[in-house]
Amino acid sequence: MTPSVTGAGYDDAAQRRIPGYKSLARLAVSLVATFPSLAADAAPLLVVGCGTGAELSEARRQRPDWTLTAVDPSVGMVAEAKARLGAAAAAVTWIEGPAQSMPGEACFGAAIAVLVMQELADDGSKLDFLSALARLLQPGAPLVLVDLMRGGSGLNSAVEQQFNEALLRFQRSSDLPPPSVDEVPLHPIGEARRSALLAAAGFSDPIRFYQALGVDGVLVQKLQ
Ligand SMILES: C[S@@+](CC[C@H](N)C(=O)[O-])C[C@H]1O[C@@H](n2cnc3c(N)ncnc32)[C@H](O)[C@@H]1O
Repeated sequence: MTPSVTGAGYDDAAQRRIPGYKSLARLAVSLVATFPSLAADAAPLLVVGCGTGAELSEARRQRPDWTLTAVDPSVGMVAEAKARLGAAAAAVTWIEGPAQSMPGEACFGAAIAVLVMQELADDGSKLDFLSALARLLQPGAPLVLVDLMRGGSGLNSAVEQQFNEALLRFQRSSDLPPPSVDEVPLHPIGEARRSALLAAAGFSDPIRFYQALGVDGVLVQKLQ
């Protein structure tokens, strides 16, 4: 398991724990920028689980013309994100709460959820989360989803074991500080389960754009 840390210190811990973390926001924004649903004056981008604002600041940097909405239930994370964006924070719509509680239908042109679904239990919470994102997105709109996965990309169990060991080695060699009381338990799922949940929520088959050991990023689209 790879626990996450909330609030101050998050960015440093994420870089030490998540292989390739520094590229994830740039990759996610670059990917959704290829969709016409986010053209200037079109529907806003929804940054789900905005955390300390990595994807928001990258979106602002790449596409200052976009309208941004950020949702996150952590007051501490939202405060960090607002501080990171500085004056640009005033142009973002901030929602403090879980994405599942957002009202509306087909109001966003794209969504990014990096390292968020992994924090939800697979007891209906992951499906509720994905179903809410499908409801909020316009038909055809993209969702970029990145999570720590169990079982990698259809790996056999020996390779999976090696990947888990390599991830722990990667993290140990990053001189991680001792675990914090703020750490959030993770609930990784396998690839087949993710595909089933995405289909049940109303998304297309996932297309992988990123993998670093068990950290896996896919692009899906809200079905028409
Ligand atoms: C590991 S952090 C990732 C933050 C950011 N996306 C990044 O990659 O740096 C996960 C974030 O998701 C938020 N989160 C957890 N459950 C959520 C939900 N149901 N809806 C929206 N955000 C959620 C947490 O509060 C936390 O800020």
